[in-house]
Amino acid sequence: THIEYLNYEVLDDYGWGLHDDDLFENAAAADLSAEDYGEFIAPPNENVLKAAERSGQRWPFACRGGACANCAVVVVEGEMEMPSNHILSSEMMDEGVRLSCISAPKTDELKIVYNIKHLPGLDELRL
Ligand code: FES
Repeated sequence: THIEYLNYEVLDDYGWGLHDDDLFENAAAADLSAEDYGEFIAPPNENVLKAAERSGQRWPFACRGGACANCAVVVVEGEMEMPSNHILSSEMMDEGVRLSCISAPKTDELKIVYNIKHLPGLDELRL
């Protein structure tokens, strides 16, 4: 799977919204560091957090077991397979929030925003 990622903090800095149609086009055109925006290839059966780390990324995490939401991402395009969910509300799931430590890519293309700790409702889930 080809994964394009973007740091949620950048959205604040640039005044972009999670639901902007051209969010990733704007990110590609902006002069962002590889920490904030980029792409990597992930194998189908590996969780996205691990794949990101193998490509050199340092994304937030704590438990690595689906219990804290530190590793949460928003899927903007594509889908991630999350085998179990004990902490995300159905509203969050509908918004595309997934826990990257336990979720593998499900589509050939994925666009995800990581580091979404300031997304409303997520703060209280974090350890
Ligand atoms: Fe805790 Fe993923 S690191 S839910």
